[in-house]
Amino acid sequence: MTNDVRTVTEADFADWHRALRTGFLNEPVLTAEQLEARRRQFVEGRLLGAFDNGRCVATYRSFAQEVTAVGGAPVPANAVSNVTVTPTHRRRGLLTRMMNRDLAAARERGDVVATLIAAEYPIYGRYGFGPATWTTRWTVEVPRAGLDPRWSGPQDGGRIDLVDGEDVRKLGPELYERIRRAQPGAVSRDELYWQANTGVVRFGGEWTEPFYGVYRSASGEVEGLVSYESDDNWHDKQPHNTADVNWLIAATPAAEGALWRYLCSIDWITRVKSGWRGPDDLLPFFLPDPRAARVTDHADWLWVRILDVVRALEARTYEGTGSLVLEVVDPGGPAGGRFRLEASPEGASCTPAGGTAVDLTLPVAELATVWLGDESLVRLTALGRVREEREGAARKADALFRTSGRPWCPDIF
Ligand SMILES: CC(C)(COP(=O)(O)OP(=O)(O)OC[C@H]1O[C@@H](n2cnc3c(N)ncnc32)[C@H](O)[C@@H]1OP(=O)(O)O)[C@@H](O)C(=O)NCCC(=O)NCCS
Repeated sequence: MTNDVRTVTEADFADWHRALRTGFLNEPVLTAEQLEARRRQFVEGRLLGAFDNGRCVATYRSFAQEVTAVGGAPVPANAVSNVTVTPTHRRRGLLTRMMNRDLAAARERGDVVATLIAAEYPIYGRYGFGPATWTTRWTVEVPRAGLDPRWSGPQDGGRIDLVDGEDVRKLGPELYERIRRAQPGAVSRDELYWQANTGVVRFGGEWTEPFYGVYRSASGEVEGLVSYESDDNWHDKQPHNTADVNWLIAATPAAEGALWRYLCSIDWITRVKSGWRGPDDLLPFFLPDPRAARVTDHADWLWVRILDVVRALEARTYEGTGSLVLEVVDPGGPAGGRFRLEASPEGASCTPAGGTAVDLTLPVAELATVWLGDESLVRLTALGRVREEREGAARKADALFRTSGRPWCPDIF
């Protein structure tokens, strides 16, 4: 059976969304209001679909994004989202056709990488994507944390206030811009992000209005924001409420610590669920007893596909100074070749290396896995996923590529 893979027009929009919702096992039909909200994500040429007898059976959307490289440079990315194939049409190569088409267009446009959050681990490695950031969720058992029960606010001259969604839409974008430029792996957010995350635009599903807290430093600077909800859980004449954090962003450890401290101090709250955090988040260490923060999830998060090796490696900085020759393997893809990297903490140059002797041979997906500084080439070599052509090359590469703080992408898209 051949199915027509093509770009989606405004006329296909409702049908395309029905297929999208079906692929994600959600109630298939959106309300007129939800459909209207989703129209705001429509960018001509960036939605793909597969059609069988005129009915949409596969969906795919990409959009322009920036991802922060090590050192803070924003890198142009092709963000991939809304990938589904209807169960009646699976395993016939529809995803492969949409992906190949979109990655070729992204390379042509000059995007340096493609990014996505994978629903399931085994899907995207075959297309040259590798997991480049990880995420962890904690649950804090507040009575076990050893915190002073008389806490009545930040001790550092800062303050926490509860605000409304409208305030978040005003304060959030500027704060997040500061944060993402200092956080490798963070991605850009548009106005729609803030509207959808404060309930003024509703893409689907139920919306519960959360509580929002803002932390201001002693000098009045906005340095942190949190969105959280609480359940209603009393039994045995005692409160057992859980504060469920939707998101928490902070520009300084003081702001971050104060917001976690605040959440753990709310009367009736006996548990705090952290939401998706960076894997080296400070949360447990803000508690006198860090074991009160139990890891409930730990998994890969942002996946990256390098489209342009030279620009990707030149966009970041390195922990040390040194040079390496890398043989990048990308059969049929745009990123294969031999490259000499001259790396330093100030930046790097990366040039085609012709017949020069190679230090490391690695598939393009493994290069993505180390690009943001998280994974170790020594570990990947031990697993047989990277080959050392010169003894000690993996250790030398780790000294350049790895970073002291781990990358993190706070967003799901
Ligand atoms: C994941 C999904 C989009 C794959 O679409 P598809 O059209 O069946 O994929 P293809 O036929 O192009 O598959 C290409 C290859 O990937 C493999 N593959 C696809 N999905 C896979 C999965 N979930 N797990 C393991 N392998 C998978 C196929 O077996 C095939 O392997 P082969 O080349 O060795 O034969 C589809 O199964 C789906 O919609 N799943 C539910 C929603 C979802 O998870 N979407 C992803 C959101 S990030």
